[in-house]
Amino acid sequence: MKKLFKKLTGVVLAATMIMAMGVTAFAADGDVTTHRAVLYKEGTYGTDSQVESMGNDAIGETHVQENSDGTFTVTVGLVEDFKAYGITSNMKSIIVNGVLATMLDQNNNGKYDAFQFKESMAFPQKLTASFTIKASLMPIKATGDLVIY
Ligand code: HEM
Repeated sequence: MKKLFKKLTGVVLAATMIMAMGVTAFAADGDVTTHRAVLYKEGTYGTDSQVESMGNDAIGETHVQENSDGTFTVTVGLVEDFKAYGITSNMKSIIVNGVLATMLDQNNNGKYDAFQFKESMAFPQKLTASFTIKASLMPIKATGDLVIY
């Protein structure tokens, strides 16, 4: 019984150590915070005619991580199978402030569910985002003001 207890204590200790290592590695990379991202019609953010884009509902949860060089790695969620005007679409590629973003398929189903880019910024930050959207077979291109709050 004593032996079993010793063994169990060892397992718990090892698990605690592994978990502690995970936390340290995470903290060293900078904290990840959740932000709100809103897509507005191009050129309207901050003006009297500010208006949300028809594509805003395709923008999901956004996470921001500060890098050691002071820039931020931003991961913006995308809604898979987004429907507009009765047509279902998925994102093909996105350019943020002239730079191609990294497309992510986190659930590995062949459809992008987030995009990631690195920027130096102060919140709220307006970025110009150009989307290539695959609706049925036809790709649609559109640009908007992407604001990270
Ligand atoms: C994947 C998500 C989508 C995003 C992020 C997106 C984004 C945009 C953007 C930024 C514009 C420029 C005007 C505006 O901002 O409202 C736009 C316009 C437009 N989009 Fe989309 N779109 C998406 C899906 C679709 C789908 C599925 C359709 C269906 C055909 C569609 C049809 C249109 C049309 C007709 C316009 C021009 C008319 C308008 O300004 O509303 N979009 N889209």
